[in-house]
Amino acid sequence: MKFYSPVITNASEAAANQKLHLFRYVEDPDQYRVDTYEAHGGYRAWKKTLTAMKPDEVIEEVKKSGLRGRGGAGFPTGMKWGFVPKSSPKPRYLCCNADESEPGTCKDRVLMERDPHGVIEGMAIAAYAIGCHIMFCYIRGEFNHCIERMEAAVQEAYKRGHLGRNIHGSGYDLDMVVHSGGGAYICGEETALLNSLEGERGMSRIRPPFPAVEGLYACPTIVNNVESLAAVPHIIANGADWYRSLGTEKSAGTKLFSLSGHVNRPGNYEVELGFSLKKLIYDPAYGNGILGGKRLKGVIPGGASTPFLTEDMIDVALDYEALTGAGSMLGSGAVIVFHEETCVVWVILKLIHFFRHESCGKCTPCREGTGWLEQIIERIEAGQGQPGDIEKIEDVCGNILGRTICPLGDAAVMPIQSAVKHWREEWQYHIEHKKCLVKTEFPFG
Ligand SMILES: Cc1cc2nc3c(=O)[nH]c(=O)nc-3n(C[C@H](O)[C@H](O)[C@H](O)COP(=O)(O)O)c2cc1C
Ligand code: SF4
Repeated sequence: MKFYSPVITNASEAAANQKLHLFRYVEDPDQYRVDTYEAHGGYRAWKKTLTAMKPDEVIEEVKKSGLRGRGGAGFPTGMKWGFVPKSSPKPRYLCCNADESEPGTCKDRVLMERDPHGVIEGMAIAAYAIGCHIMFCYIRGEFNHCIERMEAAVQEAYKRGHLGRNIHGSGYDLDMVVHSGGGAYICGEETALLNSLEGERGMSRIRPPFPAVEGLYACPTIVNNVESLAAVPHIIANGADWYRSLGTEKSAGTKLFSLSGHVNRPGNYEVELGFSLKKLIYDPAYGNGILGGKRLKGVIPGGASTPFLTEDMIDVALDYEALTGAGSMLGSGAVIVFHEETCVVWVILKLIHFFRHESCGKCTPCREGTGWLEQIIERIEAGQGQPGDIEKIEDVCGNILGRTICPLGDAAVMPIQSAVKHWREEWQYHIEHKKCLVKTEFPFG
């Protein structure tokens, strides 16, 4: 039996709202087939690119659109493409990062399962822009259904002449490989992904050189997130000005948010950047409020790597600048909600267990520090905390932050630092009374 993710999306709203494009057809059960995709206007942007645009014009259009990477860091996509050295005699590669392992994030899988040709078309346009002739889609190893859908869609794209030799008579050749990931969170970090793609262990590389200059097989390589690439055909089809008119001045376009945790309607929602976090949680069309009518305690707005916001901080716009201003980050767009009866020590123990387990071990602060943090937090949770443990946690976090090869180290400590800052008395209570301050109830395990 095949299983495709039964997530709630706001596809019907997207279909009615011309501004929302990534999810417009995502609930059409046949959208994954090339016939349906083409009937909905698919591959027109690819044909326009091949027949009417030079590679540099594509890069300029994407730069002008203001599209920023949806994989977490928010780096301007067109600018990244422009870093590929024009004079390099080496082949260039494009890698679509479909590893999607950040806890709480489940948006890329929906695009791959339900609209795989949208991802392929975006990849093809990006490949053309950087002069690449072989592109890879590195898909999280556990996502069997995504892998099947993407592989079938690639075969359809070849049959229709959207991939292969002399595509649509343009003289341009492009091949695509779907690659099953190595089964580790670190394989989503772009340099570890490249190592894994080369058949090596998924470990981060020291930068510089950056992948755009020396990436896969030491050749210029662009790594982009699935959602970033899926936005590209819409930008080419409708123009950079149209895309720029969506969202805010510095955070252009729409974004997919994976809403989970203690909300009544968890799901993936496409909204314009700048949308209200409060509305996403409480509006009946989105999260529809907190489970059991309880009070909100805190929110991780951008995936498990981002600092918490408390109840009084959620009147904030979901865009790169506003969330940074509020002391957190947009990250991958995974909004995880916790209600008032959630023990913050328990939540942090789950997170640090994950990051310790997923550390690739290459650098000491992350390899050792995440282990020490897990030990200290585990004993606090078990009622064996000691005076001075909170200060020890702060000290270890301070010695990891900014001192590691890749951002996994920072990702591990930022939620902890914010949880200690916002709920210090709860940590103190746990140590002194050897139990949680709040009753704990976890419907999501
Ligand atoms: C530990 C770790 C895991 C990551 N996992 C992913 C991932 O699953 N998908 C992704 O697109 N980016 C992930 N990233 C970010 C990538 O390194 C990279 O910034 C991104 O793929 C670039 O694409 P974008 O510019 O389109 O955002 C991860 C980063 C780190 C540090
Ligand atoms: S920060 Fe952690 S995951 Fe990243 S390179 Fe260092 S040990 Fe590996």
